[in-house]
Amino acid sequence: MKQLRHFLITAVIVAALTAGIGLLLEAVIDRMPLGASVQAGFIESLLVKHFWVIAFLFSLIGGFLLYSIFAFRQKKGELEDGDYLEGNLPLELVWTIVPIGVVIWFAFLGGQSLTSMETVDRAALRVNVTARQWSWSFEYPEYGISSEELVLPVDDQVLLRLRSTDVVHSFWVPEFGPKQDLLPGGEVRELRINPTEPGGYTLACAELCGRQHALMLADVQVMTRADFENWVEMKVAENPCAIGDQVGCGQKLAQDSGCLACHSVDGSENVGPTWLGIYETEEMMSDGQMVMVDEAYLIQSIREPGAHIVMGFENVMPATIADTLTDEDILAIIAYIESLR
Ligand code: CUA
Repeated sequence: MKQLRHFLITAVIVAALTAGIGLLLEAVIDRMPLGASVQAGFIESLLVKHFWVIAFLFSLIGGFLLYSIFAFRQKKGELEDGDYLEGNLPLELVWTIVPIGVVIWFAFLGGQSLTSMETVDRAALRVNVTARQWSWSFEYPEYGISSEELVLPVDDQVLLRLRSTDVVHSFWVPEFGPKQDLLPGGEVRELRINPTEPGGYTLACAELCGRQHALMLADVQVMTRADFENWVEMKVAENPCAIGDQVGCGQKLAQDSGCLACHSVDGSENVGPTWLGIYETEEMMSDGQMVMVDEAYLIQSIREPGAHIVMGFENVMPATIADTLTDEDILAIIAYIESLR
């Protein structure tokens, strides 16, 4: 009778603690930036289930402990040892079988979520994402346009094809849920996202990738299909490379290739020499040689970044930066540098 009373009281304590802690953890989840894509929904639902299991286990241990402290306190004048307990087969069976069942259930849910996250929509919009130290660029091969911000139509699947030109980076928009690493060496990784909420987000690099890792961010815009089509039209119309504007084209290529992440165009200090006024000046190289910054020097510096380094700078420019640039592209970039006086 007494045992039943202890059991009932602890059951009530554990249930109340579980409810309280579970609701608190749910409130924490509500404050996290989750839930702007179909994929984030799967992650969120798994997270909520895990948090409830955590709340229960914490309450189970904490509740028994708390109750024991008061109910089984040593009484005044009580000096003998407590009862000696030896094993309890039914209890041991329960606490072995139930957790195994829970772990298997979560493995099943995890597998199910992974499969659902990789559901392929054949009509998905393709976007090629390039990461480099330390910027992002996005290319829309179906439209022949590129951009520094990732613009996506809401409710349609996007197939992101991710690659890196130098070191390992990681694509992560917290509101979209999953993260995907981008690997160098020409390997392309894929990530499928179905954005569900129009709005502005931030893409962050989630892999320590060097000096400016923390600043390797890009804007993400999710908009209605109609707004997206308008944006594409605007991008197509403003592409200077398509209308023979060499300086404008060079500026765009410099932007898209990530040059401007390290080279300022206003004279301010950065990782690399500023481009303002550098054309046709003599610069002291790190080996003490004086070199004229002309077309030949710039072509070499873009094709083989380590060949001649301006005194006071380190060579951190990715050797593969020019892999996607044609000779014409490089001449356009040089025309842009020449225009910066
Ligand atoms: Cu790229 Cu961190």
